[in-house]
Amino acid sequence: MNIVVIGSGGREHALCWKLKQSPLADEIFALPGNGGIPNSVDIDPFDFQAVEDFCKENDISLIVVGPENPLAAGITDYFTKKDIMIFGPDKAGAALEGSKIFAKEFMLKYGVATAGYHRITSPGQAEEVIDKYNGSCVLKYDGLAAGKGVYVCCSKEESSQAVNELLGTYGDDANYIIEELLVGDEISIIGITDGKSIKLLSPSQDHKQLYENDEGPNTGGMGAFTPVPFANDKLLESIDNDIVKPTLHGIIKEGYNFKGIVYFGIMVTKNGPKLLEYNVRFGDPETEVLLPALKSDLLEIFLSCFDNTLDQKKVEFNEGYFVDVVLAAGGYPREYKKGDTISGLDQVSEDTFVFHAGTIKKDGNIITNGGRVLNVVSSGKSLDDAISKVYSECSKISFDNCYIRKDIGRREQIVK
Ligand code: AMP
Ligand code: GLY
Repeated sequence: MNIVVIGSGGREHALCWKLKQSPLADEIFALPGNGGIPNSVDIDPFDFQAVEDFCKENDISLIVVGPENPLAAGITDYFTKKDIMIFGPDKAGAALEGSKIFAKEFMLKYGVATAGYHRITSPGQAEEVIDKYNGSCVLKYDGLAAGKGVYVCCSKEESSQAVNELLGTYGDDANYIIEELLVGDEISIIGITDGKSIKLLSPSQDHKQLYENDEGPNTGGMGAFTPVPFANDKLLESIDNDIVKPTLHGIIKEGYNFKGIVYFGIMVTKNGPKLLEYNVRFGDPETEVLLPALKSDLLEIFLSCFDNTLDQKKVEFNEGYFVDVVLAAGGYPREYKKGDTISGLDQVSEDTFVFHAGTIKKDGNIITNGGRVLNVVSSGKSLDDAISKVYSECSKISFDNCYIRKDIGRREQIVK
């Protein structure tokens, strides 16, 4: 069958690569794709009519949606009416990521373990809540903000400043919440669901901050690895009981058309795992390690979501550890340059994957075209092996002002 993948990042490159391994797959197109994804076609995913025309012209049977915005804009509702299989939740289900308030109310309603919170309706109330948490709290703007609407604060001063910043950025009448600051280790758990059952992929961690030791500004992600050494059976069982199962129960009860991904961003605290956020799509850069780690046929798993057989599917993983290092343009996530030629891509070993993100093809060259440029993914028997391998592969690739974090895969554990 022919397939369209919506999106343009490393996640979509990994999805196209993995789907292509399936004997059931024929042509795979990425809309709009990038300089590294074969069959990238420059069509705006928000132009549903143009996507539909492309699907008809190319006999597409399945659409897989990478990013959250087209889901929030209702792409699934649109194509479900057109009788094309589309992997990704409907607009109602996508609100689990699109609105922090909606997500928190859902968690509360279905008993999902999470941080305490308050919906803020006035500056006076904000000060009261900040006092209650003694300044240790997290402000979250309600809407989609590409990871930028969250302010983690450790003092009353910082929190009050964050209120001003949030209102300055999103407007005086912006909806937001303030929640309890949780301390612990973060873990990403990503599940594939047909709206009735769920299959979890291997646990992973991403590195969101720009600098080593998780310092500096937040980014879209500077690297990721899987599996996570501290994610033992006991922890995974509490995540399943306290977070995954109640969520699935809620999805069923609410009656969403949810054939897609539930991404659980979790903080493992001294009092057990707590859900920080839902995403309704694959994580980026987690996907770039999860799909090489997945042994099973991804297309078969996706298709089983459409014929109610997901619960019978076996999801198996390859042995070893997988590490993704992001090669970013110097200056990212602030100002950065585009248009530099990338060299050395042909030197990379065959057992290492290079998933493109911010690249375009020009006159036979691959040129930088975004902040996060490439994802280099290697594996090893141990996490240490995978880390040394991936950095030695990264050193073969170069472009002007290339920036990488040097400690991907290494992280002290806070909760023992
Ligand atoms: P979110 O978009 O809600 O996942 O927030 C982005 C990041 O902010 C998370 O990955 C955490 O690092 C941090 N964060 C969010 N909520 C909390 C919380 N309640 N306590 C501590 N850190 C948090
Ligand atoms: N890696 C975090 C995210 O995709 O939101």
